[in-house]
Amino acid sequence: MDKKYIELINKAFEIRKSAYTPYSHYKVGASVLCKNGKVYLGCNIENGAFSPTICAERTAFVEAVKNGERDFEAVAIVTGHEDASVTEMGSPCGVCRQFMSEFCKDDFKIIMTKMSRDGELLDSKMFTMNEILPDRFTLNS
Ligand code: THU
Repeated sequence: MDKKYIELINKAFEIRKSAYTPYSHYKVGASVLCKNGKVYLGCNIENGAFSPTICAERTAFVEAVKNGERDFEAVAIVTGHEDASVTEMGSPCGVCRQFMSEFCKDDFKIIMTKMSRDGELLDSKMFTMNEILPDRFTLNS
């Protein structure tokens, strides 16, 4: 895999440590690579009322978009229960897919990963936005 994507994965691994997950104990880190090379990070932030919980992918995109970014290349995701010795090949939820698709072209890359507790990359899969959300909704009128 391209070195820039390995670096992106490592950043998702690090920001995952900031996840606020007192309810699910399921921690997610996401890192978004912009076409200009900048990277923005996000983690899931839960809430006692449950529905206000926000996923890692969306916190990363919120950070990027409020900084003026509009051109995106890839997102890396590291996800799993805090007690697990390895993370799982987690995939973005439907809400996050739609949220990201607002800003991403068909060839935007989604990198799913499996990592050890120490941050060693054990496995990864790369998909495009078109693959994970075909025929997506857009507001064209
Ligand atoms: N979560 C994410 O951060 N991203 C996803 O795409 C799926 C789920 C979070 C939300 C919640 O804090 C925890 O994972 C369990 O659902």
